[in-house]
Amino acid sequence: MTTAPAAGAGSFLPDDLELTALEDAAGRCRGCALYVDATQTVFGHGARGVPLMLVGEQPGDREDQEGLPFVGPAGRLLQRALDDAGIAPGWTYQTNAVKHFKFRREGKRRVHQKPSRTEVVACKPWLIAEIESVRPQLIVCLGATAAQSLLGSTFRVTAHRGERLRLPSALRFDVDPEPLVTATVHPSAVLRDRSQRRREAYALFVEDLKSARAGVDFPARR
Ligand code: URA
Ligand code: SF4
Repeated sequence: MTTAPAAGAGSFLPDDLELTALEDAAGRCRGCALYVDATQTVFGHGARGVPLMLVGEQPGDREDQEGLPFVGPAGRLLQRALDDAGIAPGWTYQTNAVKHFKFRREGKRRVHQKPSRTEVVACKPWLIAEIESVRPQLIVCLGATAAQSLLGSTFRVTAHRGERLRLPSALRFDVDPEPLVTATVHPSAVLRDRSQRRREAYALFVEDLKSARAGVDFPARR
């Protein structure tokens, strides 16, 4: 395991903020050590100008192999919840706070490990560039890692779940309308809940997505 300096993604950003250029450059990022053991960079997926941006924590095992966000078990739950909330996938841009899978090996299994604060900060330039390029009306942070990346390390999802907030002043873009941000739980937290509690957690998650939907203008057709 190499100990690459945690220089951050900043120096890997291209001048061109087109999503394809960003994704291409992110594929070569070495802004922290996570690229060493992961299969590939998992960049965000979706189109510029969609109203909602969903931000998870980091790619999981499946995402790492397929190169797309939210295609594993938590992703399936998310896609079902979006459907139940009346949100078409094509209205969303889906991404993560950290673009490489962090894991430890247990025999043949690769077990998810939470990214450190340093890694989240290192990867943040990609997330900021995605926001600038996509220009969503509302950013929905799925879980604490995404929320703390954008709203600061003292932000607590439990205390502010569902509130619609402005980005911190350092992150405000000169775009109209200004993207707002809200936070809910991570879909894997819903998956971890058992039986009846899981049903309740799922229903609350769908309610949060419905509120997000109610707060943005969707195109008449998709
Ligand atoms: N969990 C995440 O946070 N992101 C993914 O892309 C998949 C699972
Ligand atoms: Fe770069 Fe982010 Fe991957 Fe670290 S996790 S190497 S900052 S893309």
